[in-house]
Amino acid sequence: MTRLLHTANQWREMRKQLPGRTIGFVPTMGALHQGHMALIQRAQTDNDVTVVSIFVNPTQFNDKTDYQRYPRNDERDMELLTSQGVDFVFMPSVEELYPDKYSIRISESEISNIMEGRSRPGHFDGVLTVVMKLLGIIRPHRSYFGEKDYQQYLLIKKMAEAFFLETQIIPCATVRDSDGVALSSRNVLLGPEERLKAARFPQILATAPTADDAAAQLQQEGFTVDYVCDTWGRRFGAVRLGGIRLIDNMVMA
Ligand code: PAF
Repeated sequence: MTRLLHTANQWREMRKQLPGRTIGFVPTMGALHQGHMALIQRAQTDNDVTVVSIFVNPTQFNDKTDYQRYPRNDERDMELLTSQGVDFVFMPSVEELYPDKYSIRISESEISNIMEGRSRPGHFDGVLTVVMKLLGIIRPHRSYFGEKDYQQYLLIKKMAEAFFLETQIIPCATVRDSDGVALSSRNVLLGPEERLKAARFPQILATAPTADDAAAQLQQEGFTVDYVCDTWGRRFGAVRLGGIRLIDNMVMA
């Protein structure tokens, strides 16, 4: 049975009844896809109990319109999680997670200033703060993050180490559609033509000889390029297509 919880106290009461059981945690913003399901399956394999959170975190959106149009489908998400046999779904309100009205926040001052952090001011403060709150509530043994958001994963790992959190931060490989497009909740916002064209984004990132060449090719093919950057043995890119922002990254050959 999948149990739906809305408050930190409800989970704390449940957690007391699970002594000695390992807890795996998958934080999400809902609009679940196969990428999320891969994280959940891994959590279920590794742990006795799996908790999935669904919370569209307002503090990580630097653009209000992006927050408002972020896809939400709680009913379908609950059906998916129930059929997947997830034990607990944690779906808090903004008031539940931010009693301090975001007056207390976590910020990192090195790797959060490049790529996504540079393009989306305040984004990583919002991500780190909400993940810290969720980890403080759930207190999982292991937490799972997708490598599509590789910079986010690195920052969360760094935060967990810096604050001596007792959870293992586990990265999971990006799940892609058959045409190579990385699965993302935002993909549903692409029109049919844009969705076809989106396949060129990972192809160009993977094959261009340099980051500058990749940026030039993407621009030429009608993408608005935010950045292409080679670092940490990977190539990262962010583009806009029909107003929708897409990010991706891959290990460089
Ligand atoms: O990757 C996401 O979906 C979000 O950034 C996260 C980690 C759930 C925090 O809101």
